[in-house]
Formats: sequence, C-alpha cells, structure tokens
Amino acid sequence: MLVNIKEITTRAKNEGYAVPHFNINNLEWTKYILEECQELRSPVILGVSIGAVKYMGGYNTVVSIVKGLIKDLNITIPVCIHLDHGPNVSSCIDAINAGFTSVMIDASSYSLDENIKLTKEVVDYAKKYNVTVEAEIGSMGSDGVADKSGYAKVSDVIKLVEETRIDLVAPALGSVHGLYKREPNLDFDRMKEIKDKINIPLVLHGGTGIHDEQIKKAIECGISKININTELQIEWANQVKEFIKNNSEVYDPRKIISSGKDKMQEKIKEKIILFGSNNKY
Ligand code: 13P
Repeated sequence: MLVNIKEITTRAKNEGYAVPHFNINNLEWTKYILEECQELRSPVILGVSIGAVKYMGGYNTVVSIVKGLIKDLNITIPVCIHLDHGPNVSSCIDAINAGFTSVMIDASSYSLDENIKLTKEVVDYAKKYNVTVEAEIGSMGSDGVADKSGYAKVSDVIKLVEETRIDLVAPALGSVHGLYKREPNLDFDRMKEIKDKINIPLVLHGGTGIHDEQIKKAIECGISKININTELQIEWANQVKEFIKNNSEVYDPRKIISSGKDKMQEKIKEKIILFGSNNKY
C-alpha cells in the first residue's frame, strides 16, 4: 500500500518507535527491502536521492518499479516513496508529478529565511497532491565529523516548522552521513527540547554508525524516522566482493547482485527490531 509519510510517522511518534528510511539504488535493493519489511510487518520509507533517481533512469522509473513490486509481491505494509535531500524546488516538483508520495527539500545550506521561502514553495505545491514534505535545518557534519556550531537552534526549528507547515523536520544535532571519524555526539537535550516544543515527527539522518543505545535514546527523545544508507551499502558490497572472489567463473548478473541479498536483509531486520517498527501492520 503506497502512503505518504504523515500517518506512519505520526503513529510512530505516538507509540514511541521509529519508521526506517532505507535508501534504494536499483530494482534489487527495492525488492529486498520490501520483502524484509513485509516479513517483519514494518512500515517503510524508500528514500531516493537525486543521484539514485538519475541512476535508475528518472522519477517515473522509480515510481513504476516500486508500484510494480508492491503489486507483484503482494506487499501490504505501508510504503512511502520519498525524495531524499531534494536539492531544489524543481526536483521536488518533478518527484511529485511522477508520483512520489513524499519529498524532502534540503535548503539547509541557505539562510533561515531562504530555507523557509524555498520549503514553503514545496509545501504549497505538495499539499495539492496530498504529498508530505520533510525539511532540514542546521548543518550536518562533513567528512565524518559534526561541528557543534552547525547544530540546529531550537528557535530556528520552531520558526521553520510554524512558517512552512512541513510534515517532518530533520534538525542537524550531531549526526553525519557515511562513516563517523569520531564517536557520534548527538545533542539529546536539544532533541528533547525540540520534540517538546513542536508537534511534528523528527528525523535522524546519518543513521549509519550510531550505536544501538544512542538510537534508542534518540527515539525516546522524539526521533520517529531514521535514515540508513551507508550501512546497507557496506553489507551488500562486502558480500558481493566475497562471492566474486570465491566464484570467479560466474558471470550471471542475477547471481552476482543477489549474492548480497541475505546479509543486506539481515541488516534490515536488525534495524527494524532496533527501531521497534516490527509487527505494526
Ligand atoms: P547514512 O548513509 O549515514 O546511513 O545516512 C543516510 C541518510 O541520512 C540519507 O538521507
């Protein structure tokens, strides 16, 4: 069942768990993620970066793949197709026109006023199509390190939420995309303060490499959507490399690509159980 992000993350917020956002890169990843989430009866957000959109052929191709798999595999859990880090208003509009059920506009590198202006443009368009919108604020670390000066300010988050009517907000509070060079140092106090002051679900980007205890604490402090990408990539790639090393005579792409499936699905299962989103639908 294709849904936007609101119902699944609001329920997660009310019931104290987090919905997994797994990034997809191709047909096979989409299939493995859907199968495992169905098995565990977990709602899922399929995050698609602009790079992945281009790689897979375009917005329409992404939507067709997801819709086709939902039908052919009898997927009954709620599934959201979400543009991850839409870099501008037009990318969000293109995604919405193709049938994405949710988009993220990432205008976090602009001033607060400009972030609000761009985000509002996306919200105004998205609402007409019942598409949900996530926005980001503050600056996430780069090169494996998060600088405290970039953490989102509580007053800025409140202003962004109130002035744009977004459905979810991702405040940068110490996480980074990819691998951490230092121990993650999430600002849980600020996370909790933001949760107490706004009414919408919070998102944690850069879920890879955050220890289980910190993930649990983040959920307690209001995180209702957790994004995972790198960890699945590593899990899949390690398995495929091992397979090729041990089976150098194999050339069937189906065998090579699917050799990474089991370990990838194990990791998906581990995350779903950690986030507490299993057996919900
Ligand atoms: P990781 O690659 O660190 O898991 O982050 C994923 C993410 O936040 C996608 O938006």
